[in-house]
Amino acid sequence: MRALVTGGSSGVGRAIALELARRGVRVVATARRVARLADLAVAPLPPESPAILTVAADITSAADRRTVVDRAAEMLGGLDLLVAAAGSGAVGTFATADPATLRQIMEVDFFAPAELVRETLPLLRQGRDPAVVLVGSILGYHPLPLHTEYCAAKAAVRSLAASLRQELAAQGTGPRIDIMLASLGPTESEFWDNLVSGERPRWSRGTPLSAAETAATVVTAIERRRPEILPGWSAKGFAIAARFFPWLIDAIVAARLRSEPRQRPARMEP
Ligand SMILES: NC(=O)c1ccc[n+]([C@@H]2O[C@H](COP(=O)([O-])OP(=O)(O)OC[C@H]3O[C@@H](n4cnc5c(N)ncnc54)[C@H](OP(=O)(O)O)[C@@H]3O)[C@@H](O)[C@H]2O)c1
Repeated sequence: MRALVTGGSSGVGRAIALELARRGVRVVATARRVARLADLAVAPLPPESPAILTVAADITSAADRRTVVDRAAEMLGGLDLLVAAAGSGAVGTFATADPATLRQIMEVDFFAPAELVRETLPLLRQGRDPAVVLVGSILGYHPLPLHTEYCAAKAAVRSLAASLRQELAAQGTGPRIDIMLASLGPTESEFWDNLVSGERPRWSRGTPLSAAETAATVVTAIERRRPEILPGWSAKGFAIAARFFPWLIDAIVAARLRSEPRQRPARMEP
């Protein structure tokens, strides 16, 4: 199998690239930080694993995306799997946020993966057992306050995955392309260090799953072709609560916000 993985320089994308390589998949990983990609390329792997190849790119740039897709196809001789893991968050009151934050979050978390899917579909159609994994969030199931831009982007990703899955299944011609959505709960990574704006709210600090555990779950789900992936019990529990008890989530979050005045949304002037 031949895979292109975005977000390969840290956290979940890096762990997925390593896990795929460990299981014999030939991987091209991409991100902006060149030194981090160089580090990934020399990360220890079992002797039988293929070496991870890398291409530096800003995934929000259309020209960079084209280059990454072309280089990956060249280096791998085709493509069977796209894992769109690159993403960024933002924290803060929407009313007072810079409009640029909304643009940037939508660019990296929604437009970039959406366009990357569009750009890789022709290659995937010629691939073997082709598949796409979009890395979303449990906040795409139910939003939280102070994460408005990010929740909106991840809800859009969830909707994109569901719509595209039906659309491709209905086409009925060519090889079937499986569209999978991995909705992550709290996961160890550099996510909170790389926020576009704001800082991590204290009330959101739970016990995260490691990036390696998350990656192992995602890669096993790819092998089993699971359309919806919820790594760990906290993500599964949140998705169930979002479906059956959304009011409970809202009540817990409201209580936590009340207990942390610093994070309370700023009151709007009348
Ligand atoms: N960690 C969590 O608790 C959590 C929970 C739910 C969902 N997620 C999702 O998991 C995915 C991976 O995030 P993470 O937790 O692993 O965070 P992370 O460690 O900060 O990794 C984010 C990755 O995205 C890449 N990236 C960001 N902007 C980019 C751009 N413009 N162009 C190219 N690459 C870009 C970063 O690489 P460069 O900076 O080198 O470009 C980095 O490799 C994201 O989609 C995130 O929304 C995470």
